[in-house]
Amino acid sequence: MRYDASQALSFSLDGEDLLFNPGDTILQAAHRGGRYIPHLCWHPDFAPHGSCRLCTVKVNGRTGSACTIQAAAGIEVESNTEELNAHRKTLLQMLFVEGNHFCPSCEKSGHCALQATAYQMGMEGPHFEEFYPTRPMDASHPDLLLDFNRCILCGLCARASSEIDGKNVFAIGGHGMGTHLVVNSPSGQLGDTDMAATDRAASICPVGVILPKRRGFVIPIGERPYDKQSPADVEAELAAGGTT
Ligand code: SF4
Ligand code: FES
Repeated sequence: MRYDASQALSFSLDGEDLLFNPGDTILQAAHRGGRYIPHLCWHPDFAPHGSCRLCTVKVNGRTGSACTIQAAAGIEVESNTEELNAHRKTLLQMLFVEGNHFCPSCEKSGHCALQATAYQMGMEGPHFEEFYPTRPMDASHPDLLLDFNRCILCGLCARASSEIDGKNVFAIGGHGMGTHLVVNSPSGQLGDTDMAATDRAASICPVGVILPKRRGFVIPIGERPYDKQSPADVEAELAAGGTT
């Protein structure tokens, strides 16, 4: 939904007025207005998860998550600042070293929100020592491959599976360093669930964990959304009704 003209509320985002609808979070308002606030665990179709912290902004000088804080008339929100982008770069570097992200060999390269956001934030290397965790792959499903090495625990697949597909195929389990993606079947294998390649959960992953089989590199490297556009441009296009 676009703006309700009878209630023209606005707040300031990086010094420019932004309209919002009553009930919007700051990130919802920014998305609707085609303004980019970096995010990984948020998606316009789902309730916020608040886990990745990429969307951290300053609201009247206090830090908080743009995906969970309600917009309010007259507030001053800072997002695109050197300080906040440096913080985002550090979070991204931590995500990269926690998993095994080898972009040049990843089928999702050029279509990966983690990779694109890292470029956007000027990340040139991992900075921290790589963990190189041992994580499994699951090829048990006839049409889908799971590569747990790239999971950033955004929870989008779990929300899509339960809220849209009505299946509860995925969950986030464990605590702290042991937090991990869980497949809800007696064997823990995707092939033992009722997941279908047409499920929303099959196409929601912002990185290269849930991949369709037999379609690798159908869209060549160089012709993928983030090969041509920044996340900010993709966001603006989506807000204008486009698709990626
Ligand atoms: S598999 Fe993908 S969508 Fe699911 S939690 Fe991991 S990164 Fe997020
Ligand atoms: S997008 Fe707000 S915490 Fe992840």
